[in-house]
Amino acid sequence: MAATDLERFSNAEPEPRSLSLGGHVGFDSLPDQLVSKSVTQGFSFNILCVGETGIGKSTLMNTLFNTTFETEEASHHEECVRLRPQTYDLQESNVQLKLTIVDAVGFGDQINKDERPIVDYIDAQFENYLQEELKIRRSLFDYHDTRIHVCLYFITPTGHSLKSLDLVTMKKLDSKVNIIPIIAKADTISKSELHKFKIKIMGELVSNGVQIYQFPTDDEAVAEINAVMNAHLPFAVVGSTEEVKVGNKLVRARQYPWGVVQVENENHCDFVKLREMLIRVNMEDLREQTHSRHYELYRRCKLEEMGFQDSDGDSQPFSLQETYEAKRKEFLIELQRKEEEMRQMFVNKVKETELELKEKERELHEKFEHLKRIHQEEKRKVEEKRRELEEETNAFNRRKAAVEALQAQALHATLQQPLRKDKDKKKASGWSSIYSVTIP
Ligand code: GTP
Ligand code: MG
Repeated sequence: MAATDLERFSNAEPEPRSLSLGGHVGFDSLPDQLVSKSVTQGFSFNILCVGETGIGKSTLMNTLFNTTFETEEASHHEECVRLRPQTYDLQESNVQLKLTIVDAVGFGDQINKDERPIVDYIDAQFENYLQEELKIRRSLFDYHDTRIHVCLYFITPTGHSLKSLDLVTMKKLDSKVNIIPIIAKADTISKSELHKFKIKIMGELVSNGVQIYQFPTDDEAVAEINAVMNAHLPFAVVGSTEEVKVGNKLVRARQYPWGVVQVENENHCDFVKLREMLIRVNMEDLREQTHSRHYELYRRCKLEEMGFQDSDGDSQPFSLQETYEAKRKEFLIELQRKEEEMRQMFVNKVKETELELKEKERELHEKFEHLKRIHQEEKRKVEEKRRELEEETNAFNRRKAAVEALQAQALHATLQQPLRKDKDKKKASGWSSIYSVTIP
């Protein structure tokens, strides 16, 4: 439908008219139906505890829910901040509560342990929910919602001012989660110091622009109490699961040599105020704020990041279909561009390789020619040597033959001489006619 049609359609919408009913119809039971459905479905509530190791997080959780959650003590030697969620099924009357307590283990212990893992954890829970919402087959009805509904920020009872780590962390978290700051181990700080400390903390939070959770004052039923409680923030709490006899009653308290600090005594600490505000009055508002404010912000940013928007520059409403088509087109153009880029890269690579191969071939050819020249030169030298040797051999043979001939002549001459002497002797003695030797 075109935008102008939409406008005409909405302009033409008639004002609803008030009518009185003739008798009981029954839709006044809607709130009861809603309650019944919610009770059947059960509730989930997720608390994030941020505070330094040993500040009293687990003790306070045990005190708040009047039970003992199995938690192990954190070590001071964690390499970085680690988020440890633990889920418990609790029941009170016929109401089922799936409670998840997430501990930021190792926070505030050493330097380099910043708030990033906490922020990432909160975002990851939002992302899981968003993914479930975006599924074609959603099952949000029985989805275990792990989004953090409240962050109890445990402030160390120094009596001075907030640490910069506290301010930085709360500033990073305040747009993602409902923060309730509490002064832990409030029994370790005197009453007058505590008063000044509270004022100082609130001043520092305001001057640093940290938005903490404000108990809502728009619901008449709780407006007054919430307004009073807002003025008591940050709550100074004491935790203990130990029971001590005060008068003839057993109460949860911390016993010291000089006296007893009663957890549920409002003159001793703000534990009751915290329990009242966190569980008994504002639990649903915390869940609601998480969904409508913090998750909504995450979802909006995420969808905008993905290219979705509600209207174009001229405030024309954008349909999901149009956004999808526009994104698809954008994606196809990008894909084509990438394809062309890859093709060009491939062609260039082939050209480069071809050139390299040609260069290698030329080098090889040159090498071959060079070796060939060396080989021919060597061959020529060997041939020359062979000829020289042959000539030497011939000359030697000639000299040898001459020497042999001379030797033969010399031998002949040597043999001739004694025979002639003998002949002469025999001639002289008359034997020459019998023995005569002819020498050729
Ligand atoms: P990790 O989980 O190890 O970081 O510690 P944690 O913050 O959960 O502290 P935990 O509740 O284990 O308490 C640590 C110590 O502090 C224990 O000895 C508690 O008894 C003590 N403690 C807890 N709450 C209070 C409190 O309100 N006042 C005082 N004085 N001590 C407390
Ligand atoms: Mg603990």
